[in-house]
Amino acid sequence: MSVKIGDHIDLGAFPLLLAPMEDVSDPPFRFVCKQNGVDMMYTEFISSEGLIRDAAKSRQKLDIFEYERPIGIQIFGSEIDHMRMASEISSQAGPDLIDINYGCPVKNVACRGAGASLLQDIDKMVAMTKAVVEGTNLPVTVKTRLGWDDNTKNVYEVAERLQDVGIKALSIHGRTRAQMYKGQADWTMIRDVKKNPRVKIPIFGNGDVDSVEKAAAWRQEYEVDGIMIGRAAIGYPWIFREIKHFFETGEHLAGPTIKERVDVCKTHLTKSIEWKGDKTGIFEMRRHYANYFKGIPNFKEYRMRLVSLPTLAEILEVLEEIEHQFDAELIFS
Ligand SMILES: Cc1cc2nc3c(=O)[nH]c(=O)nc-3n(C[C@H](O)[C@H](O)[C@H](O)COP(=O)(O)O)c2cc1C
Repeated sequence: MSVKIGDHIDLGAFPLLLAPMEDVSDPPFRFVCKQNGVDMMYTEFISSEGLIRDAAKSRQKLDIFEYERPIGIQIFGSEIDHMRMASEISSQAGPDLIDINYGCPVKNVACRGAGASLLQDIDKMVAMTKAVVEGTNLPVTVKTRLGWDDNTKNVYEVAERLQDVGIKALSIHGRTRAQMYKGQADWTMIRDVKKNPRVKIPIFGNGDVDSVEKAAAWRQEYEVDGIMIGRAAIGYPWIFREIKHFFETGEHLAGPTIKERVDVCKTHLTKSIEWKGDKTGIFEMRRHYANYFKGIPNFKEYRMRLVSLPTLAEILEVLEEIEHQFDAELIFS
């Protein structure tokens, strides 16, 4: 059965979603995830205050492209009226949906009173969600955690109340705010939410899915409508095609060859430069090389060169060298 968000977004059976990730899920990274079969993506979270002030950094994050659809713009903030305005502004950028972040555990200035903080004040969260829904004609979805801490795991209540004010899907990261990213994600409450007969909207499970096996096992065990993957896709966008292939055929797809790794890396780099310009594009790509070539023996020397070279031509040369140097069988046998 197809998973639908609102009346118009049809994600097919058991969709895989790319989690919103600050400084990671930008258009260049989203491009390579899309190439590898992800069913829906989100922007990095965007500050409502930044959008209202028309700050360049926030405005740039609104950039979305036709081939990315369906795509959601994720916003966060602590002021209800500002979130309503952010909802209006984001909608003008033409996404398929607006997502609200109620999961960010960080306590910096931007996140003060925003993100997961709202899990401590469900009435305010409900009012804020209502305002965001009123600020747009698009479907609104929410991403949150199990609760604030072990004593207040309130996502069950959150799901019911946010559905009542009009959200069209809920993604749940199986940790509390207090856990940050530590320990293991616990999906049992995600299943409880899914099994609540009052809850009709799609429920997506998130947290720690990093293999085909886990995706298959947790799909069965926790009965969610789809899975959202974050960290495991960093440097490994093939995770989407591998999981999809397994679901479709019951068979494991071979991992990427060295040529595929190099190709995806080149695409990511080229898109990065296209979107950010030479200097920033090359600079911000540096954090990704080690991830793309995990498991390759003695990669350190190449990495050192990749992260210090200043021009595209020089970096491409090193990437070609890597491709020729490493025989696929040697590395992945
Ligand atoms: C680098 C990084 C940045 C993140 N930024 C966001 C964000 O902007 N919005 C959000 O809702 N969650 C953000 N998260 C949380 C992820 O979306 C996801 O919930 C979390 O990583 C757990 O999923 P995973 O185990 O599949 O990575 C971020 C996580 C990481 C690692």
